Amino acid sequence: MNRKVTVVGGAGNVGATVARSIANRELADVVIIDIADSKAAGVALDILQACPVEGSDTRLVGGSDYALSAGSDVVVITSGVPRKPGMSRDDLLQVNYKIMQDVTANVMKHSPDAILIVVANPLDAMAQAVFRLSGLPRERVLGMAGVLDSARMRTFIAAELKVSVENVHAFVLGGHGDTMVPLPRYSTVSGIPITELLSAERIAAICERTANGGAEITKLVGTSAWYAPGQSSAQMVEAILKDKQQILPCSVYLQGEYGVSDQFLGVPIKLGAKGMAQVIEVTLLDEERTALMKSAAAVKELTTIIGV
Ligand code: LAC
Repeated sequence: MNRKVTVVGGAGNVGATVARSIANRELADVVIIDIADSKAAGVALDILQACPVEGSDTRLVGGSDYALSAGSDVVVITSGVPRKPGMSRDDLLQVNYKIMQDVTANVMKHSPDAILIVVANPLDAMAQAVFRLSGLPRERVLGMAGVLDSARMRTFIAAELKVSVENVHAFVLGGHGDTMVPLPRYSTVSGIPITELLSAERIAAICERTANGGAEITKLVGTSAWYAPGQSSAQMVEAILKDKQQILPCSVYLQGEYGVSDQFLGVPIKLGAKGMAQVIEVTLLDEERTALMKSAAAVKELTTIIGV
């Protein structure tokens, strides 16, 4: 392959899922970096040995030495401590911030031209930390949350209406936390807003289940989800490497858009080869704007604590 993607924390569940999804889609060669050196090498080898079955010529290597990752086009940062049942994403703030400091320094040293996708929680605060620590322009630091949250919402809408998930688009704004803002008016089934198809009560239940989507899995499995987060991250990698200019909800550094300045928050963006090409702004009703501001305030509370 002529493109290179590094997955940091790639021996963990989310990271290995990202690596595998990139390999299955034959998007790029993949480097798995993890402090668990031999596990990183082993996970890379295992996925490499699945490639003949998939018909993919992706090459994978793994280890703890960032020199392996030199010159990456995209770096996905999945490092960090995952949630245990009963924990909120915010409980991970301090420990994962320390990890982001170390990871960002190493990533910037070896791949100064890369586009960075942050997956660590609490998502928006960690994305902002990496943005500040890296000194990169805002176009090149993206947080993965909205693709996951809207995939969850799509799943629930499709199940409720017994239609193909391919017919369903869902729209989720805000931070990747309890205050996220699913937007039913902009969530559609073959172009029809779900507000035309479902009762207010069913929509409220879907929005609530979406906002609690991560906690639901954590309670069932005993740790954070990985398949849907991993696949969602790989979709962002694909949009970048193929320069798709795909509109996806991502956490980005806002500079006045949606009335929010100088902080990360989830909004729809156009994603392509240079990273974020544009923030897509839509009009919001008063109550939607209020919910978004509440979500922005919740993110700001965290970034203030760690001073980023
Ligand atoms: C989730 C975690 C990854 O939402 O934040 O499942």
